[in-house]
Amino acid sequence: ESTLGAAAAQSGRYFGVAIAGNRLSDSTYATIAAREFNSVTAENEMKIDATEPQRGQFNFTAADRVYNWAVQNGKEVRGHTLAWHSQQPGWMQSLSGNALRQAMIDHINGVMSHYKGKIAQWDVVNEAFADGSSGARRDSNLQRTGNDWIEVAFRAARAADPSAKLCYNDYNVENWTWAKTQAMYAMVRDFKQRGVPIDCVGFQSHFNSGSPYNANFRTTLQNFAALGVDVAVTELDIQGASPSTYAAVVNDCLAVSRCLGVTVWGVRDSDSWRAEHTPLLFNNDGSKKPAYTAVLNALNGG
Ligand code: G3I
Repeated sequence: ESTLGAAAAQSGRYFGVAIAGNRLSDSTYATIAAREFNSVTAENEMKIDATEPQRGQFNFTAADRVYNWAVQNGKEVRGHTLAWHSQQPGWMQSLSGNALRQAMIDHINGVMSHYKGKIAQWDVVNEAFADGSSGARRDSNLQRTGNDWIEVAFRAARAADPSAKLCYNDYNVENWTWAKTQAMYAMVRDFKQRGVPIDCVGFQSHFNSGSPYNANFRTTLQNFAALGVDVAVTELDIQGASPSTYAAVVNDCLAVSRCLGVTVWGVRDSDSWRAEHTPLLFNNDGSKKPAYTAVLNALNGG
């Protein structure tokens, strides 16, 4: 196959991209995005600050722009993200305790109802664990509402849209030996044992010199899948865009039957949140980088 999405589809997977709605008017950007990818994540437009700027007043203008473009171009959509310590609107940042807990539930209900039946996977909770060696939860206003906030979010999400796969999504959890990975594993194992509704785990996979790709990523994916959840590479970018590292990540996903697909976090290097890392598959002029060819070849089976 000659595009990333079609090549991934040969094994029942997708190859997705993060879309920034305000770039869709750039024809180079939109042409590549429409041609190459068969799954879309809104880079910012479905986040809490964008969708509920005032409490109880939902605004889906920017989110629907990305959603409608994706559907009109035949792509499935990953929802990102419902409960997160970051990109909270001001009103939510100032809440705590029971009021914040209820606001989180109301937000999940409001956004998931709008997209009920239309989203393949939702990142229900994003980035809840601390970096470093503690294996602890990240301190945040949500965490301070009580340690059960994550399972409460997943239960609300299941009730709001039973058709969406419900994911927990995080970064620096790709290396099996890291404490953060082990903490996330223990949470997912506990959720599965107690029947908390979780269907998938997203590995963001922002690889850079400080947290590089390690070949034990495949072990990580396999071990999570063995708990009875799907796995996905949700925000892939690699500092320097080494073709062999890109191919290795794709091959790790292909090696795990429960790996649903891979999403790269932007189209061209100039679209990246870390443009200075030149971490993506396309040059600023829209031409394909060596990493693109490596990914396509891997998806085509070698
Ligand atoms: O839209 C405004 C613009 O009007 C304003 O002039 C400009 C000035 O700073 O800011 C613009 O908003 C920025 C927005 O991206 C859109 O470009 C925000 O400041 C900026 O904070 C925001 O960054 C996003 C970041 O999440 C915020 O946490 C990145 O685009 C986005 O790629 C990044 O994505 C996250 C995932 O959601 C979760 N995992 C990590 C990943 C990378 O940080």
